[in-house]
Amino acid sequence: MPPSLVPARATAHANIALAKYWGKSDIAHNLPAVPSISLTLEELVTETEVCFEPGRKHDELLLDGRRATAAETQRANELLDRVRNAAGIEHRATVTSTNHFPTAAGLASSAAGFAALAAAAIRAAGQELDSSELSALARRSSASAARSVFGGFVELAAGAPGEDGLAAKPIAPRKHWDLRLVLALTAAGPKSVGSTEAMERSRTTSPFYDAWVASAPRWCDAVKQAIHDRDLEMLGTAMEQSTLSFHCCAITSQPSTLYWTPATVAALQTVSKLRAKGVPVWSTMDAGPHVKALCEAEDAIRIRHALTQTPGVLQVLVATPGPGVEVSS
Ligand code: DP6
Repeated sequence: MPPSLVPARATAHANIALAKYWGKSDIAHNLPAVPSISLTLEELVTETEVCFEPGRKHDELLLDGRRATAAETQRANELLDRVRNAAGIEHRATVTSTNHFPTAAGLASSAAGFAALAAAAIRAAGQELDSSELSALARRSSASAARSVFGGFVELAAGAPGEDGLAAKPIAPRKHWDLRLVLALTAAGPKSVGSTEAMERSRTTSPFYDAWVASAPRWCDAVKQAIHDRDLEMLGTAMEQSTLSFHCCAITSQPSTLYWTPATVAALQTVSKLRAKGVPVWSTMDAGPHVKALCEAEDAIRIRHALTQTPGVLQVLVATPGPGVEVSS
């Protein structure tokens, strides 16, 4: 093995969007049609090791101890091809990726996975990228992964078609605001439709998609201002609108993508009832049935208790602001 090709390992953390990305302006370059802002989470971490090996015929990907499916391997292979092109090498790689999440049920994140894969592959190929270049590389595989390169509060602008260097940017460190995200898991197993496919269905068939694209920047601006001012009510209100609006597009697409279950609705109602009683808490969801409640640190235990008591909720976890990608050889 040439001396520059040594196995490399990276960790990255999942992020939750406070203002959502949903829909692409350019599918080939994987560019988002709307700006988004996220919070990286300490507890949801993926660890990935990459080793380029002379003589190996194909890339091999092991995910949580099992051999990856053809579709999963293909997505990793595309990222590895970009790294090989940049490094001028042809070796295939073995990739071993493990989600160290407190549960296996439904939180596996492409954001953490592709951020860790990009960082480990670049190091294993003997290359150096700055954080912005690494974020752009991860974004080509999964746009939310661009944000997991950074810790704390992170923004990803909308991309103009062809804007291949688009990268996320940190807007405030994790210590800026000690928020909590209380995660209520409402179903076991993988989601019914992946986010890439569901957002494309929304773009091409939902009658509300254009309204979503027109409105999303306003919610993103409000979320950014609220983070700056540490104004949870302003943040929570914009976050809920952003969440419900992208789900509106998903639900009204053809065929409809309805991620919600009875437990989803029950958990959303638990959050709004707590708020009616004076607890400052707002909910968000991603492309799946789980409900995530955003609150100040001091309210997290009470909210966790209420969500644990909610019919159909299987498990509740509390997550804290986390760091960006870290590489070790
Ligand atoms: C609902 O980043 O998974 O979580 O770019 O096609 O891989 P691709 O999509 P992905 O979409 C995430 C959608 C979301 C909202 C968000 O994280 O902003």
